[in-house]
Amino acid sequence: MNEQTKKEIERRRTFAIISHPDAGKTTLTEKLLLYGGAIQSAGSVKGKQSDRHAVSDWMELEKQRGISVTSSVMQFEYNGYCINILDTPGHQDFSEDTYRTLMAADSAVMVIDAAKGIEPQTRKLFRVCAKRGIPIFTFINKLDHEARDPFDLLDELEREFGIGTYPMNWPISCGVTFKGVYDRRERAIHTFDNFHGGRGKIAAISCDLSDTEKLDALIGENLRRELCEQVELLDGASFDFDLDAIAHGKLSPVYFGSALNNFGVEDFLAGFLEMTAAPLARESADGTTISPFDDAFSAFVFKIQANMNKAHRDRIAFMRICSGKFERGAEYYHIQGKRPVKLSRPQQMMAQERAGIDEAFAGDIIGVFDPGVFSIGDTVCAKEKKVAFAGIPTFAPEHFAMIEQIDSMKRKQFAKGMEQIAKEGAIRIFFEPDGGFERVVVGVIGVLQYDVLKFRMKSEYGVEYLHRELPFQYIQRIADDAVQISKLDLTSDTRAVRDVMGHTYLLFTGQWSIRWAQEHNPSLVLLDFDRSGND
Ligand code: G4P
Repeated sequence: MNEQTKKEIERRRTFAIISHPDAGKTTLTEKLLLYGGAIQSAGSVKGKQSDRHAVSDWMELEKQRGISVTSSVMQFEYNGYCINILDTPGHQDFSEDTYRTLMAADSAVMVIDAAKGIEPQTRKLFRVCAKRGIPIFTFINKLDHEARDPFDLLDELEREFGIGTYPMNWPISCGVTFKGVYDRRERAIHTFDNFHGGRGKIAAISCDLSDTEKLDALIGENLRRELCEQVELLDGASFDFDLDAIAHGKLSPVYFGSALNNFGVEDFLAGFLEMTAAPLARESADGTTISPFDDAFSAFVFKIQANMNKAHRDRIAFMRICSGKFERGAEYYHIQGKRPVKLSRPQQMMAQERAGIDEAFAGDIIGVFDPGVFSIGDTVCAKEKKVAFAGIPTFAPEHFAMIEQIDSMKRKQFAKGMEQIAKEGAIRIFFEPDGGFERVVVGVIGVLQYDVLKFRMKSEYGVEYLHRELPFQYIQRIADDAVQISKLDLTSDTRAVRDVMGHTYLLFTGQWSIRWAQEHNPSLVLLDFDRSGND
């Protein structure tokens, strides 16, 4: 590999940003982009009441609901680093999307609301990160509001997640009396000042804890005493700073700050960059380690999105480059399609803005035009050195609904829309034979996905439909697709459906019906919903 390419890869950092909704993920992302000069002015408020929306929000529906439905990718430069941020939807109904996004990241930044601590969605996402053993950085946000005791917060992280924490800085009070943070490495106080409205940078005031007079003038005597005690406690009782433990996700560096006020954000970014390494090596499906510095290009698709922008009616496959260098116009090989491909219209994303690119490097996320050939989990690699990455697991749907088209003149659009949206992996489509006719059953993980489907079918394909929720909660695949359903002894509330690949599934309303099916049909083999990503 030539030196130039190696250098480019070494300066890449690709991370996902995760949080429970409302903890401040979008605000933090905006501030990071602001530092990188990627945006000029962050809409520092986002939400239902606001008409300025976070740059990472794509869809109209997201704006209406004030939530991030889809994850987006943003690249920016900072201090010689090339940073790729993967934004993730915070809402639990879209956790599968988040899960896939985390597969494409080398580390994660977890944003926590200082008043709330760990919330359900943080817990869930953390588990995914922990499974991959990627470094996890914690940003405890909203110190300008009343917050929980910082020791309590750290204790909760350690107890619930079973990891160590290392506070990089320490808050001096919170809410209306919030004075700033003490930087443990610099041994300096960064005083909080919110009148610049979060737009300015904050100059640290160096002050040793033994300089009582200066400290008293800065934060007052009471807070000075408290700070000194707490710092002593921390130095004595907390985990040692250990880069190796950080690299393996066993120790999380913790920063306290206020994203909205731009307080602690740049220190966080600088510390993060210093503590994270270049893109991680990946394992192929057969267990071979693929180094990012391998000459041969390889990448996997972790996300597909159609009609991101109404002006471009298109489908974009997002790939994480795992090794080598991508070059526009070069011919690569699509493992699952078993054929050479040219990746056309390669681009990098900045929320709604897209920039065409000529090259990209391991660690980068690129979007390419997808004429309908890619599926999530697919590998694209150099023709000369074929490699396949393991597919991305999929989750079983937990909610099902019958969908019936209203306008039979729009059959084609209906079929096309359903097929395209299903290919993105957010919903699953099944068919239920009904006489000579087939009914469409949609399966989703979270009910908000129904709203997304309805909204997108109408706005992108001009199709409206009737929607009726079904009582099923479980889905199991029948191992042998040739089984005759009518010959099976099933409870009356069990239903059989088929997917586009022709696989047959049973839908159950409860565990009891599953047990019945197993006990009354000894030769019936039921499989868990396909977790290979190839269903
Ligand atoms: P999310 O992406 O994690 O869902 O959170 P987001 O950044 O949208 O932030 C959620 C709310 O918290 C926003 O309020 C935002 O302005 C606010 N926020 C973010 N960081 C801070 C902080 O450091 N301090 C304070 N005080 N607030 C912060 P909103 O949507 O504009 O309005 P509302 O939800 O408060 O009504």
